[in-house]
Amino acid sequence: MGLTLDPKIIQGDILSGLAKKKETFYFFQINSNNVPGFQKQLATFVPLVTTSAKADDCRKDIRKAKEEAARKGEKCPLIEISGVNISFSQKGLNVLGIKEDIGDEDFKNGMLSEIDVLGDVLQDWDPAFQKDIHGVILVAANCKSVLDQTLDHIKKIFQVGDAQAGIIEIKTLEGSTRPDEEDGHEHFGFNDGLSQPSIKDFDTDPQPGQKTIDSGVILLGRDGDAKKDTRPSWACEGSFLAFRYLRQLVPEFNKFLEDNILVIDGTPVPELLGARMVGRWKSGASVQQTPTQDDPEFVDPSVNQAFTHDKNSQVMCPFAAHTRKTNPRGDIPDSAIAPSRILRRGIPFGPEVTDEEKAAKKSSDDEKLERGLLFACYQSNLDKGFRFVQQSWANNANFPPQKQNGIPKVDQPGIDPLIGVGTPRQMAGSNPDINAASTNLPFDAKWVISRGGEYFFSPSIPALKDTFAAKATPAEL
Ligand code: HEM
Repeated sequence: MGLTLDPKIIQGDILSGLAKKKETFYFFQINSNNVPGFQKQLATFVPLVTTSAKADDCRKDIRKAKEEAARKGEKCPLIEISGVNISFSQKGLNVLGIKEDIGDEDFKNGMLSEIDVLGDVLQDWDPAFQKDIHGVILVAANCKSVLDQTLDHIKKIFQVGDAQAGIIEIKTLEGSTRPDEEDGHEHFGFNDGLSQPSIKDFDTDPQPGQKTIDSGVILLGRDGDAKKDTRPSWACEGSFLAFRYLRQLVPEFNKFLEDNILVIDGTPVPELLGARMVGRWKSGASVQQTPTQDDPEFVDPSVNQAFTHDKNSQVMCPFAAHTRKTNPRGDIPDSAIAPSRILRRGIPFGPEVTDEEKAAKKSSDDEKLERGLLFACYQSNLDKGFRFVQQSWANNANFPPQKQNGIPKVDQPGIDPLIGVGTPRQMAGSNPDINAASTNLPFDAKWVISRGGEYFFSPSIPALKDTFAAKATPAEL
């Protein structure tokens, strides 16, 4: 029997995800002239931190309100919510004098030093992510005004802008769900946030096909964490947050799809190529379940993870499809996939594509019109989670490794067409017709550009209180 899992001591974005329509990532440096001041302010801040128990209750309340409104045939009222979490980089731990080795090389190196490993280009990185970032505060809310109020309150706690400030702002990134029927969809138009592992001892009711993983794949110090026995005690029940600031070139992506429309039995199917690149149709239905046309029947959570791939075939779903690369169900044993499952918590950023960009089929150079995904994910080992998935699966043209029986002219699956970096830039099996002349689809363009990111550690609530913040003096108690 493993340790009981107590969601009241785990930050809310990790296990439940902070409920959100808007989310701000506030990247900061700790004021090195006032570390004790920061630690005192942090002690005041910690009670604001949303736990996984609270985030879970909040999600349940929203679900209940939605169901009730649906029963009455009414529009669901907007429920006022806000959630707050905090995470630190290795540089942040250094400033705080937390010296014990947390046991993760990627975290200790920082993302900037792994640019080559990830396939990023330094020139594309926002200068802010080339500075020392000590931590990030996540603020999520149902609307901008609630979010702004919460963030203002936090800035007051840390006395931002005053001589006694505990933190200095390095960069603020504002995420927002997309409007109307695009709500829940990322900027290329695909339903996102569907497939997640269920966590043993936390998710009591997994969906059909949803694989349950040990909680230690996400939380340090628990069963399933490869370094379980060597973590410092303050690191237990925490998780590594990999953050990526990913720009998406939406008009260019759409142009590529338009220029390469697939034809089935003489009929063009405009949405098919995009679906085969992602592994799901825009609705969220998996191409493995419905290979030639989108079908909303397969979107429901009770079916949308209930499938596996045939490891000898990419007729239904290309080996290189984004979802197959990042979760190669059936291609390699479950036991090899489980340690590399991650909990994804991203949110889109930036405005909708403008009419001018649509007409030009090109993204504007105006930075204010940049759009993309603020990608965030949690795991207990970055060399099995995000860093591994990006480097060894998405960027690796030879993954998954099985033979491609019966498929002519295919030497290798190719890289992930959404996030893969590497050569050759092509994917196999883009066309479901195995007799198609060209099964290798080259794509010189890159539609997802990394603008930076960092690895953080999200401590448990007791660790925040006892190791990161200042303890109250007897006089203050
Ligand atoms: C702008 C960049 C990205 C876009 C547009 C994107 C889009 C999507 C979409 C549409 C899905 C399918 C819906 C779902 O299951 O949630 C998905 C799934 C997934 N993505 Fe991404 N993604 C991006 C970046 C990344 C990155 C950087 C990683 C990790 C290295 C990643 C890992 C995953 C995983 C693990 C899944 C679930 C696969 C499954 O279990 O079926 N994604 N993504």
